[in-house]
Amino acid sequence: MGSADQQWTKKTFTLNTGAKIPAVGLGTWQSGPNEVRKAVKAALDAGYRHIDTALAYGNEAEVGLGIKDSGVPREEIWITTKLDNPWHKRVQEGIDSSLNSLQTDYVDLYLMHWPSSTDPDDLKKHLPDWDFIKTWAEMQKLPESGRVKNIGVSNFAIRNLEKLLNDPSCKTTPAVNQVELHPNNPSPKLVDYCKEKGIHCTAYSCLGSTNSPLAKDQTLQKIADNKGKTTAQILLLWGLQRDTSVIPKSVTASRIESNWQLDGASLTDEEMEQLSSLPDRFKVCGDGWLPVKVFFGDDE
Ligand SMILES: NC(=O)c1ccc[n+]([C@@H]2O[C@H](COP(=O)([O-])OP(=O)(O)OC[C@H]3O[C@@H](n4cnc5c(N)ncnc54)[C@H](OP(=O)(O)O)[C@@H]3O)[C@@H](O)[C@H]2O)c1
Repeated sequence: MGSADQQWTKKTFTLNTGAKIPAVGLGTWQSGPNEVRKAVKAALDAGYRHIDTALAYGNEAEVGLGIKDSGVPREEIWITTKLDNPWHKRVQEGIDSSLNSLQTDYVDLYLMHWPSSTDPDDLKKHLPDWDFIKTWAEMQKLPESGRVKNIGVSNFAIRNLEKLLNDPSCKTTPAVNQVELHPNNPSPKLVDYCKEKGIHCTAYSCLGSTNSPLAKDQTLQKIADNKGKTTAQILLLWGLQRDTSVIPKSVTASRIESNWQLDGASLTDEEMEQLSSLPDRFKVCGDGWLPVKVFFGDDE
C-alpha cells in the first residue's frame, strides 16, 4: 500500500533477476509518426525513466530519436520492447531489428508480445511446427549476449504461464508479464498467480486506453474530486498500489506531465476496494485477430 510520502516517480519494482524496473513508464502504442519522438522527449524531460515500445508499433526508430533528443544518458533509461508474432522463429533477427531501430546496444526488457507464433506469410495462420515454448527457448539465450538484460512475456494467461513454466525447456522464469489491467479488467487471480511465481506484472491500457469508458465512471470521478487529482492519476495510483508498474500512453505534453504528478498521493484501502470492485467489465485487447486463442475467461 502507498503512504502519503510515497515517491512514486522514484519507485522501482525489483524483478526476479534483481533488476529494478521504474514503476511508472511512458506507453507508445498508437503514438504516431511525428508525435512519438516529441512525446518520448517530453516524458524524459519531465523525469520519466521508462519507455515502453514494440516492434509491432512501428515507432521504435522515433522512440530512439526521442531518447537521443532528451540527452538523458542511455544507462538511466529503462527501455522495454517486444518480439512481434510473425518473428517467433526469428528471435535473433527480431531483437537485432529492434536494437537497430532504437539505435541502442541493449534493451532492459524484451517481451514476447503475444503467445502466438504467427506465420509471417499468412497472418491468419499459426506456424504448424512452432509454438511459444520454442520461442521462449530462443529468448532464454538472449541475456548472455548482453543485448537484452531481462526477458519476459505479455498477454499470458494463467493457462499459458502454467504450460510454459512446466515445460522442461523452461530454465528462466519470465521476469515480467505485461497484461491489460485497469479497474474494469482487474484480473486478481492472474496478478496473484504472477506474484506467487515471482513474475512482476506491468499494467497496460492502465487508463483504459483510447476513449476509455473509465473516463465516465462516477465512482472514479468522485474519488478523483475528493483528492483533487485527475481520474488518470487515480487509475495510476490504483495500479501502483497493486504492485504493478504502469505505462500510461500520451502524446499530449500536458498529460505526460500530469500523469507524472503522483508523488505524495495514495489511495486508502477503501478507495482501492471501491475501484477493484467496480461492476463494469471491458477489455481493450482481444484475441479475435490472432490465429490462436490467448484469453480464457473473465480473469485472464
Ligand atoms: N503488451 C501489449 O499487448 C500491449 C497492449 C496495449 C498497450 N500496451 C502498452 O501499454 C501502453 C498503455 O496502454 P494504451 O496505450 O492502450 O492506453 P492508456 O495508456 O490506458 O490510455 C491512452 C489514452 O489515454 C489518453 N490519456 C493519457 N493521459 C491522459 C490524461 N491524463 N487524461 C485524459 N486522457 C489521457 C491518451 O490520449 P493522448 O495520447 O491523445 O494524450 C490515449 O488516448 C501502450 O501505449 C503500450 O505501450 C501493451
